[in-house]
Amino acid sequence: MRRAKVTKVIIGVGHGPRKKGISGCGANHYSGEKRGFVRVMAGGRSDSGARTPAGLKTPEGSRTMYHIISIRDFERRDLDYLLDRAREFDTGEYLPEMLDDKLVALLFFEPSTRTRMSFATAMARLGGRSISVDSVEASSIVKGETLADTIRVVSGYADAIVLRHPKEGAARLASEFASVPVINAGDGAGQHPSQTLLDLYTIRQSMPIDGIDVGLLGDLRYGRTAHSLALALSLYGVTLHTIAPGGLEMPANIALELRERGMEVIEHADVQGAIRELDVLYVTRIQRERFPDSASYYNVASSYRITPDLLAGVRDRLMLLHPLPRAGEIDPAVDRTPYARYFEQARNGVPVRMALLHEVMK
Ligand code: NCD
Repeated sequence: MRRAKVTKVIIGVGHGPRKKGISGCGANHYSGEKRGFVRVMAGGRSDSGARTPAGLKTPEGSRTMYHIISIRDFERRDLDYLLDRAREFDTGEYLPEMLDDKLVALLFFEPSTRTRMSFATAMARLGGRSISVDSVEASSIVKGETLADTIRVVSGYADAIVLRHPKEGAARLASEFASVPVINAGDGAGQHPSQTLLDLYTIRQSMPIDGIDVGLLGDLRYGRTAHSLALALSLYGVTLHTIAPGGLEMPANIALELRERGMEVIEHADVQGAIRELDVLYVTRIQRERFPDSASYYNVASSYRITPDLLAGVRDRLMLLHPLPRAGEIDPAVDRTPYARYFEQARNGVPVRMALLHEVMK
């Protein structure tokens, strides 16, 4: 299997003792490099997007800044490192005052329950505080302010920014204007890296991820959780089974990228034909809000549904995951089966986001 093109690993060098005094307020010299779990030297130093091998020390006198934008920016060891850290937060190995001098800004320009609340919960559990904007209507965006200006301003208030935005690429753009770390909490139909980490974390609690069969069901065209997860799973030798209603297949560029990464991708016509081959079935909602018109949505609405009957003969260890919210794709009667793991998955958002917040702000 080909590894991700990323050669830079920064996160692996950043787990020393808690450091004080690196909260962002300096100039950002990040120049828009398209990948890399982006490390930026702030305060007058720039790595201009240069690749940094694991273990390389931060140059004397510089500060580091991490942006969490896309799963494409991660190597497997970055993911494993963060998952290990999340496990430590989950088992309570850390003291709650770890980020007690830090403040995170939660900028959510699209609806959210789990992502926003679990970031806020994670920050509170680390002893830190949050400020938030919860809608476009409640922000100066209605007055015509650009995202770039909003990000510049909020960089002066907070030590990190968590951004959800309807436009693909918004988080990357924000990272170019921010002088504090930016975490992408969903950019349109693009990426949702923190969700992927909690998805991986949930799988890893039950089985090693390597070599398993994972089904992705639903809106693989507009579903950012599916895009991020598929790319991450390509680092684990997973066989991917895709099951999408007509017109909602995985975008061709992502499908190609997965195959270029050495992933076996098997397309199925329906979930009935695939479910007995799977260790994990990741169900997604049709992303109605991203459809150009309601007619095209109604053509595919209600085209798949997981019911208890469908689960006859599946592998014992099958895990049913869903990023939630669900909108009819999983019959509530399935919740009582041992396969239903989506509420546990949502809960795992807290330790995973604790690990992320701590990593970017420590
Ligand atoms: C997902 C999202 O926002 O992409 N939700 C989430 O973050 N748990 C999935 C969705 O909205 O369907």
